[in-house]
Amino acid sequence: MNSSTHLDAALRWDGSRLAILDQTQLPHRELWLTLAGAADTADAIRRLAVRAAPLIGIAAALGPAMEVAAAPDPEPGMRLLREARPTAVNLAWAVDRVWAAARAGGADAARDEAERIEGEEGAASAAIAAHGADLLAGARRILTHCNTGALATGGAGSALGVIRELAARGEVEVLASETRPLLQGARLTVWELTRDGIPVTLAVDGAAAGLMRRGEIDAVIVGCDRVAANGDVANKVGTYAHALAARAAGIPFVVAGPTSSVDAALPSGDEIEIEERDADEVRRPGGDLVTLPDVAVRNPAFDVTPAELITAFVCERGVAQPPTAAAIAALLAR
Ligand code: MRU
Repeated sequence: MNSSTHLDAALRWDGSRLAILDQTQLPHRELWLTLAGAADTADAIRRLAVRAAPLIGIAAALGPAMEVAAAPDPEPGMRLLREARPTAVNLAWAVDRVWAAARAGGADAARDEAERIEGEEGAASAAIAAHGADLLAGARRILTHCNTGALATGGAGSALGVIRELAARGEVEVLASETRPLLQGARLTVWELTRDGIPVTLAVDGAAAGLMRRGEIDAVIVGCDRVAANGDVANKVGTYAHALAARAAGIPFVVAGPTSSVDAALPSGDEIEIEERDADEVRRPGGDLVTLPDVAVRNPAFDVTPAELITAFVCERGVAQPPTAAAIAALLAR
């Protein structure tokens, strides 16, 4: 079992039961929920109580391990989990790995494989932080989007892990964009960085482009839910706009994430399925109606940033700069 402090920040595994910090309640309440199998793990993933690609992967590994240990027929639970959210490739990847181990070696093999995934993600976070901080050495004012920290990974984070490492090496100021409509930046990134004593300023998503243009940002770094073979990246909705603004302002736009988020079988970002979520997340942010109750709504949870707007992709194996198909393939071959 991985018992690192960072993992404990989001998820606790005692070898047979999974406890998760319910991220829908943050930053106001630290509520822990106990999960016992595939159905309640799938539900927690669907409603974003546990969220973000690498952490979804860990939960989606431990969920099947619990299911295989308890259910006479675990297969329907595997399907339920696999379909909980479509965009982060980590989910299907983790379920498939644990289910294959279960079929080959039973419940013990499933649990071992799930714990291996948990360990791999924690180690990936640490390596990403080091590679990313080397790449962004000298950048002080960093913009990030959504939440990519200890609440999102099995370690200190992907993009936020890089920021933590930069802060350990020198002075850093973070501009966190709110991340409409579910406010992962405002609720989660601000909470994490404040607990770490790293200076953070919050801005609405729409302010980011103007602040970049005014010269107030040195670099943008974000996470990823799925990286296609050609380097296109699906990440939280609003990421593409930040990438366009960074290009216009002439500042680096960096994507950080583990190789478990790379989908080498997918030729380009055009083929990535983008989750469309409930209209009321937009009509009623925080529960209060802010528009007409029946207005038509588009609520894509993610968008795709084309590789040509990305300065570099940082993963645990190194850096693809720029993230061409050849550079991504070379990283995966390491
Ligand atoms: O809808 P969410 O909160 O699961 O979206 C999360 C993101 O988009 C993150 O940026 C991504 O998963 C990378 S987390 C290291």
